[in-house]
Amino acid sequence: MKILVILGSLRKANTYNTLKKIEAIHKQIADCEYEYLFLKDMNLGLCKGCFTCIAKGEEQCPLRDDRDWIVQKIEASDGVILASPNYAANVSWLMKNYIDRFAYTCHRPRYFNQKFMILITSGSYMGVKNAMKALSIMASGGNIISRLSVLNSPGMNDKKKKNQEVQIKKSTLKFAKLMNKNNQGRPRFSYLIWFSAFKAASSKNQKVYPADFEYYKNKEYFTDYDLNTFQKLSIKVFRQFFGIMINKGIM
Ligand SMILES: Cc1cc2nc3c(=O)[nH]c(=O)nc-3n(C[C@H](O)[C@H](O)[C@H](O)COP(=O)(O)O)c2cc1C
Repeated sequence: MKILVILGSLRKANTYNTLKKIEAIHKQIADCEYEYLFLKDMNLGLCKGCFTCIAKGEEQCPLRDDRDWIVQKIEASDGVILASPNYAANVSWLMKNYIDRFAYTCHRPRYFNQKFMILITSGSYMGVKNAMKALSIMASGGNIISRLSVLNSPGMNDKKKKNQEVQIKKSTLKFAKLMNKNNQGRPRFSYLIWFSAFKAASSKNQKVYPADFEYYKNKEYFTDYDLNTFQKLSIKVFRQFFGIMINKGIM
């Protein structure tokens, strides 16, 4: 089993140390291989905000760097751990740039076959929720099967430290356990809404977002998952709703 770790720290310290604990726990119970991608060492240019990836397609991004290589790494792995320190109530700038470089996946999600764990380390509780949320976006379409936030406060007492070790173990075991479960691509209700909104918008805005139009035009859902009647009906109703909103210029 291949686990890819994408790490947004600027240094090999708290976040990396937590990841090594996760790796050690995971290796005790499963046959797995960990590979670390340090964003600080990657050639991943700063997003220029040109909209090309979103509108015309990610293959037309003007930056020629490690992005596609990272995509291949994600696709070749069985599980991905996205990890970042909390910087000013968000992910680190390195991780934020990474998220922005993959923003096209919010329009055209993928990674339905991947399972994600997300990890935020922080010095306090300030902004942890925000940072977690930002990191969740990056797993678009994938299953986030485990979430963990770890505190690295110098004043932590022994009880708190112990509790935290228990939490690291629990989250890792959850990640390891659910990795083996075949629940890929199961549509959550929020995904049905997400799909309906983008499908409706893509047909209305095909000239502005041709890449979205191509992606959605023949799709009944993001994947070929066998939707039940309720799910199909939900998509139909939401598509109509979003279609009306778009035609009225509200969205
Ligand atoms: C620039 C900067 C901003 C930070 N902002 C926050 C914050 O808003 N909330 C928080 O709880 N910790 C904050 N921290 C603390 C780090 O999140 C924490 O020490 C983290 O574990 C560092 O991870 P690292 O050792 O992998 O770099 C900040 C640290 C730095 C360097």
